[in-house]
Amino acid sequence: MGSKRHWRIFINLAVVISLLCPLVLPSCAESTSTSPEIDTKQQHDKRMAWWREARFGMFIHWGLYAVPAGEWKGTTNHAEWILTTAQIPVKEYEKFCPQFNPVKFNANEWVRIAKEAGMKYIVITSKHHDGFCLWDSKLTDYDVIDATPFKRDILRELTGECKKQGIRMCFYHSIMDWHHPDYLPRRDWEKRSSEGADFSRYVAYMKGQVTEIIEQYDPGVLWFDGEWENTWDADLGDDLYAYVRSLKPDIIVNNRVSKGRAGMAGTYDPKKFSGDFGTPEQEIPATGLGYDWETCMTINNHWGYNKHDDNWKPTEDLIHKLVDIASKGGNFLLNVGPTAEGLIPRPSVERLQQMGDWLKVNGESIYGTTASPFRKLQWGRCTQKQLANGDTRLYLHVLDWPTNGKLELSGLDNKLLKAFLLARGEHSSLRTTRKGNDLIIDVPSQAPDPMVSVVALDIKGKPIVIEAPEIVADSDTFVDKVQVAIKSDVSF
Ligand code: GLC
Repeated sequence: MGSKRHWRIFINLAVVISLLCPLVLPSCAESTSTSPEIDTKQQHDKRMAWWREARFGMFIHWGLYAVPAGEWKGTTNHAEWILTTAQIPVKEYEKFCPQFNPVKFNANEWVRIAKEAGMKYIVITSKHHDGFCLWDSKLTDYDVIDATPFKRDILRELTGECKKQGIRMCFYHSIMDWHHPDYLPRRDWEKRSSEGADFSRYVAYMKGQVTEIIEQYDPGVLWFDGEWENTWDADLGDDLYAYVRSLKPDIIVNNRVSKGRAGMAGTYDPKKFSGDFGTPEQEIPATGLGYDWETCMTINNHWGYNKHDDNWKPTEDLIHKLVDIASKGGNFLLNVGPTAEGLIPRPSVERLQQMGDWLKVNGESIYGTTASPFRKLQWGRCTQKQLANGDTRLYLHVLDWPTNGKLELSGLDNKLLKAFLLARGEHSSLRTTRKGNDLIIDVPSQAPDPMVSVVALDIKGKPIVIEAPEIVADSDTFVDKVQVAIKSDVSF
């Protein structure tokens, strides 16, 4: 245990010190979430198992909005929200239907791109806020078969390919619907009358559609969205969640099914609100959340296709984000917005290929891992995996490579079994030495991988980490006296 090593603390302040030592931190990876009254923790863990293992998925935003490609009457900053952001009346928006003919769409190719990127699941918009459906729904004509010249069931083709290529098919389904006459409220700029509209009829329609997609395509996840409007409430959320689970007991549902989400941070209280995972949007939480979560993010600035948007994130940045997310126990759902012809934009494909190349070598440090046992590492991130014999492999993702060839790791109190560069395999062992509380790993002076290099560290048992004490004060203004506390955490 950690008692062998002591942290020496010198404080030259006239202070009152209270020593809170040691505090045991729960691992950030540990999920305490059980959706209200439906699962035991054990059932919940079993249901979430494939999703936790997967860590990396592809989001696809595709629909009629690909036709205007982000541009309307000279304005160019639109995408899947274009009906609202450009204030296009529904009747006029419907005119995109005859233009939606993505003859270059090839389900085999899309799924191959996801698979080659190392992604394990796909979440595609069965219906986005505009109400247009990508499958042959019996409950509306506002779908790809009945309303467009394309007349091919996109969800069916993709589901078939996903089965063949071993990827989980999942659907994003919008609660908010700008097209259905019974959906309320109307947009405040709209002229469309709401007379006779009946929201409960809309809910029945949506449940009917959800039944269709579950029964026909057997999705792994239903990813709801658009829950923030005042017509939706937690009771409706609980009901929809329970309904979906009754149709497919092992399905996974995001927290946007209900009203618990705290804005873009995507956090929620899983004990109070329905949903199986949190949904941070375009951001990565500072630490793990104590329950399952998935950051969804765009590769450029928009979800749907925008022909003017060239603000592509560099591959290195995307890999760093994947690593950061995995180190906090989350999943990464990375978006592509295909064109109206049916192509995933080239810059997205290139980046995904490069991520896949990195994952082919380093995937072991991402898939099926759990969150870092360290509070913070100066040079990067860490994930971990339990080995069959109860020992642990730590994966040190070195984002900031030490050019002096000495990688320093503080506070790890376990017996070290071996250290090696993941890319070079278990036999390429690295020399290690102990210096006080630090473990020094001798590494090449140049990072072996230009994206992120991973050092694997096998240790006896579960990680025991002694964190350096933190000095915390209530106030950050110091005159001649300030009360501080020293906090020291040990995590097992
Ligand atoms: C937002 C947007 C939406 C997008 C989603 C992805 O909620 O309304 O357009 O689909 O984020 O998370």
